[in-house]
Amino acid sequence: MNALVLYDSKFGNTERVAEAVALVLQEALPTRLASIADVEDLGQELFGTDLLVVGGPTQGHTISLPLREPLSELERSALLGLRAAAFDTRVHGPRVFTGSGAAALERLLRHHGAWVVVPPESFLVQGREGPLDEGELQHARTWAHDVLHAAGVFEAVPG
Ligand SMILES: Cc1cc2nc3c(=O)[nH]c(=O)nc-3n(C[C@H](O)[C@H](O)[C@H](O)COP(=O)(O)O)c2cc1C
Repeated sequence: MNALVLYDSKFGNTERVAEAVALVLQEALPTRLASIADVEDLGQELFGTDLLVVGGPTQGHTISLPLREPLSELERSALLGLRAAAFDTRVHGPRVFTGSGAAALERLLRHHGAWVVVPPESFLVQGREGPLDEGELQHARTWAHDVLHAAGVFEAVPG
């Protein structure tokens, strides 16, 4: 089983969350970390991926365009058989006011056939450019363990 952590990040906050998630997955699975800005062909990048974790900044109440566009353009069944999870970063406040990129991401993942194994998750930033709230990297590590567990990946017990 192979994992791909795919992210978009304008100011670097989502990138930090993605890195923290990838480090946890890497302990259990061969894991690649990719910025959507570096991905030329998403279909090709997904080849051989069993677990897809996608995260991006909430912008305009939804997921940032650099993630939304290529995911929307995938073939309808492109993610069939993949286990998947979505996260976003967003500012403080009730979700009804901030929106949530992860909720939009989750819909895109499901639309293309993925099996979304955990609810969408948000990691909070203190302002538009960040920084991440204290504790959010630990929150990301905990969430990554939840993703592994829900995806049916059993981690080796250290020692
Ligand atoms: C153009 C723009 C629109 C934004 N709109 C929202 C929004 O609707 N809701 C929200 O919670 N945050 C919004 N934000 C704040 C972003 O969520 C924040 O910049 C992001 O979490 C930082 O992640 P990054 O460093 O990975 O880019 C917006 C930011 C930008 C630049």
